[in-house]
Amino acid sequence: MRRRFFLAGSTTAAALASFPVIQAETGGNFIQFPRNFIWGVASSAFQIEGGLNTDGRGVGIWDDVVADNSSITAEPAADHYGRWQDDIGLLEKLGVNAYRFSIAWPRVIPEGVGHVNPLGLAFYDRLVDRLLEAGITPILCLHHWDLPKPLQDNGGWRNRDIVANFIQYATVVADRLGDRVRHWIAINEAYSIAYGGYGIGFWPPFIRNEKAYFAAAHHLNLAQGAVFKALASRGREFGTAMVLNPVRASTPALEDIGAAQFHHAMSIKLFLDPLTRGRYPDVIEEHVAPFIHGKDLNTIQHSVDFIGMNYYEPEYRRSVSGAPFGTEGTLPSDFPTTDSGALIEPGGLYQQLVELREHYGNPPIYITENGAAFRDLPDASLRVHDSKRIAFLRDHLIAAHRAISDGVNLRGYFVWTFLDSFEWRLGFSARFGLVFVDVANGKRAPKSSFDWYAEVVRSNRVRA
Ligand code: FCB
Repeated sequence: MRRRFFLAGSTTAAALASFPVIQAETGGNFIQFPRNFIWGVASSAFQIEGGLNTDGRGVGIWDDVVADNSSITAEPAADHYGRWQDDIGLLEKLGVNAYRFSIAWPRVIPEGVGHVNPLGLAFYDRLVDRLLEAGITPILCLHHWDLPKPLQDNGGWRNRDIVANFIQYATVVADRLGDRVRHWIAINEAYSIAYGGYGIGFWPPFIRNEKAYFAAAHHLNLAQGAVFKALASRGREFGTAMVLNPVRASTPALEDIGAAQFHHAMSIKLFLDPLTRGRYPDVIEEHVAPFIHGKDLNTIQHSVDFIGMNYYEPEYRRSVSGAPFGTEGTLPSDFPTTDSGALIEPGGLYQQLVELREHYGNPPIYITENGAAFRDLPDASLRVHDSKRIAFLRDHLIAAHRAISDGVNLRGYFVWTFLDSFEWRLGFSARFGLVFVDVANGKRAPKSSFDWYAEVVRSNRVRA
């Protein structure tokens, strides 16, 4: 199966030429972003840190998953646990205003619940201090998939008890970092956790069961809402990072349109509707009802300060009886793809941003992830000339700018990702980084896209 189960397609710069061009200068047209637009990069703990057995870290559910097509595991990944100071130096060079990272739950509470590991907390404490010293705003994500194994042994997100565990963990982290970190994301891509882990068994905990999917989804929603409520009085900004890949029907046949509608409800509305409106969409209601207790929906609903949107590609769905949830993803041939098989379609980014404006009251939005994997190799001086990545990012930024011009409340953009990382089941065979990492020795080398993005950040504009 493809790494991404969100299928989809490219609108090139030429096709987007009708977008508002604010400045024209010798050498090309530039589109200018609003003043105070936030430029950042994103990462996640498990994908870059390594140090899995260092300083009292516990075991997580991804620790023993060896990546497909590669013997390289998440140890030492990009060795960020050892090289974090150099990495912040690179962020300074890049000039970003903000850095989105995640905390490793197994590092902070090794058993998932109970005993707190002071060395684990101290790592993030130093990281945050150094980021602030560098003038980079930390955007902290509490959970990016690396669940402590003992919690999984207890049922993981399928078991409602996890909500209390998540509150304990969030409170410990907030007690330590809440004085300095202003922006908090509770969970990264609840849909991916529930669908990949419990619905189709693609990754840990490898369960393939529709009921488990809806149970996990509800408990993820509940845990997020409960943490927002538990931390609400701290005067911080709280938001989400949801995978928001627009869903399109594979063909105009009625059953495929129905399949796309259902998939849209179960991948997007199942998470956004209870958070923003306090209710599940009608077609989802019966599936989650067995897991809803008392006032759960009041707990889940929260007026968030921002919606974080992770966008990679639109997803095409068709009806297939017997497939999980009765639908299957398809790959239209009319779009180019990245080297990890994702469709390149900046129009999907625009479409999804407009959907948020139209149907969710135009909330403040950050694109919390967007990027592409290409297999470009470094030259003798370790330089990667990644022109396809530059084109990808440029075309998506043009689409984002078009959405802003059309009234979407988009406040910032985070490239996925900063360093080449352990890309889950694809290991280091899928490299999304602006910085090349030699996994043999941990050496870093900024790619051409790093210089390109640094100039975007510095000038607040993109050459169309
Ligand atoms: C997102 C994940 C992130 C990374 C990118 C490529 O779905 O949040 O960790 O794997 O995809």
